[in-house]
Amino acid sequence: MIKYITETVDYLKDKGFDAPEIGIILGTGLGQLINDIEIIKEVSYNHIPNFPTATVEFHKGKLIYGKLAGKKIVVMQGRFHVYEGYSLQDVTYPVRIMEKLGITTLLVSNAAGAINLNFKKAELMLIEDHINLQGSSPLAFNGVEQLGERFTDMSAPYDAAINLAFKSIAAKHNITLHQGVYASVVGPQLETRAEYRMLKILGADAVGMSTVPEIIVANHLKLKVAAVSVLTDECDPDNLEPVDIGDIIGNAAKAEPNMITLFKELIKTL
Ligand code: HPA
Repeated sequence: MIKYITETVDYLKDKGFDAPEIGIILGTGLGQLINDIEIIKEVSYNHIPNFPTATVEFHKGKLIYGKLAGKKIVVMQGRFHVYEGYSLQDVTYPVRIMEKLGITTLLVSNAAGAINLNFKKAELMLIEDHINLQGSSPLAFNGVEQLGERFTDMSAPYDAAINLAFKSIAAKHNITLHQGVYASVVGPQLETRAEYRMLKILGADAVGMSTVPEIIVANHLKLKVAAVSVLTDECDPDNLEPVDIGDIIGNAAKAEPNMITLFKELIKTL
């Protein structure tokens, strides 16, 4: 993998990706942050050597280099999911690239269903911890020890100082920011009522289909990480309605201005 990583990193450096400090994965509910970024260079994923091959959804996927609040950043516009058929190593490959480009902090957003019924649609949840239910690990491959510790510590995967800063920004801007445990499943099907009950018993406050692989690799690389979920649906097994993707997207859009405020203000503090 080292040979592939070097090739990808050399290509991006050559394109002008010059020592970014912060990496951002723009998930659902944060896409419009792009309007606040001073874009210096952008490259489609399908032009980047060794990037996972583009699916139909991914001809719009781009890696962006630019500035936000005076900081040099690299942004993933579009991420890879296990449910699209990518391996966990593919899904997390861009994190390894961003680290080699120079980032020391990774910020992530996603959409999730609220298992904790005190949390409401279109509210935000800061991820304090997670449960990996994707069935494998992005670190489960031959040669992983050449890239970092095989038995990566996960006692505190999310950066306490960044989370504290997120909480104080939310308070200052009157943004409801819950805190909780995010469980990652493979998807793409939504959960059954029995699965929502199980997730609650397991200790999850929210469930989604992304993020945990990237967080595991970020910890493997000793990056500081933080992640925020936009809660798009309420997963009440006793009153479950059929999933409405339009509603999910609508709730993500509703929460987006708050999500953007949190990330922009946070980056100022880093
Ligand atoms: N389950 C899994 N992933 C999700 C959900 C959900 O209810 N909502 C948004 N992403």
